Amino acid sequence: MKTAVTKLFKIQYPIILSGMTGVSTPELVAAVSNAGGLGILATGNLNIDQTRRAIRTIREITGQPFGANIPLMLPGAEKKADILIEEKVPIVNYSLGKGDRLSSAVHSYGGKVIATVVTHKHALAACRDGADALIVTGHEAAAHGGDVTSLVLVPSIVDAVDIPVIAAGGFADGRGLAAAISLGAGGIAMGTRFMNTVESPVHHNTKQASIEKNVHDTVYTHKIDGLPCRAMQSKGADRLIRDRIPMIRALFTSRDAANAFGFPWFKMLLGILVAGWAKSIQLARMANAYKPIQISLAEGDVQDGVLLLGQVTGILQDTPGVSELIERIIAEAAAAVNQTTRCMEQ
Ligand SMILES: Cc1cc2nc3c(=O)[nH]c(=O)nc-3n(C[C@H](O)[C@H](O)[C@H](O)COP(=O)(O)O)c2cc1C
Repeated sequence: MKTAVTKLFKIQYPIILSGMTGVSTPELVAAVSNAGGLGILATGNLNIDQTRRAIRTIREITGQPFGANIPLMLPGAEKKADILIEEKVPIVNYSLGKGDRLSSAVHSYGGKVIATVVTHKHALAACRDGADALIVTGHEAAAHGGDVTSLVLVPSIVDAVDIPVIAAGGFADGRGLAAAISLGAGGIAMGTRFMNTVESPVHHNTKQASIEKNVHDTVYTHKIDGLPCRAMQSKGADRLIRDRIPMIRALFTSRDAANAFGFPWFKMLLGILVAGWAKSIQLARMANAYKPIQISLAEGDVQDGVLLLGQVTGILQDTPGVSELIERIIAEAAAAVNQTTRCMEQ
């Protein structure tokens, strides 16, 4: 299968594993890249040493192209970006920040850059900053999709930019892939679907929840981690949404988050306290969400924890292996296109 995305990244299929914190581990990344897609490592909860080790582990288990995701607003992101550059990661995917410096550094060793965006403004800024492709994330997505649905956001950004677009948010099968290509995208990135695969490291209960939940079982609010975010409805999510004292709670929770990012706690706490009221609340909520999100993924406690989950959870019915899933999606996409062609000819 050939699209602008397969050509740009020299991959067989235009199917991308989103960089999901706590999910997109070296093993899952390699499984997707080995199956002909593009695996993207999540570095959100890795410290500097773990990031370097994860990149080297991927190289040991696959010779195929892979990427690494870096959310630029997280503490310590600059130092982590330097590791991606030192290790010459072939494809760097940034989100939540300005990528001009990163893009030129990655281009200097021949790497490619994908910017994740949820608005037109950010799509155009990423193009000016030198991105080679965009992941355009619609409202349906787990975690930080925008407020416009993929069906509208993807073609509108396709029309506005002249670099390849990867559609994200609401994609889980071949019908979705065929639809994304019809909208002008060169491929799809999937989070929720890949989280529920054999090679995904998340707890069995969590995979099972993604099969049992339906399209109405998620919430979208900035009160979970400070940014507009989609998660499964649960007691844990409700607790964060109703929290009236996020700043006070963050005095305690920020230590866990700081440890996970390998960032000095006092620096993180100071950062939260002096950021200005609105930003302080946002950072406090982010610190408070860190542990509940980890609990849902690693311990399978999807009720007291907070599970980031897309609306597409409502169409998942099984837990396939990555290779089986990718082959299935390609076959389903071909069938969807044939069916469309037959309808058009009648
Ligand atoms: C468990 C989980 C963790 C995620 N973690 C992150 C993250 O750390 N950073 C990020 O930018 N997106 C994160 N995402 C969002 C994905 O990168 C992606 O945008 C989203 O899953 C796409 O929508 P879909 O779930 O409908 O496929 C996460 C998604 C899930 C399901």
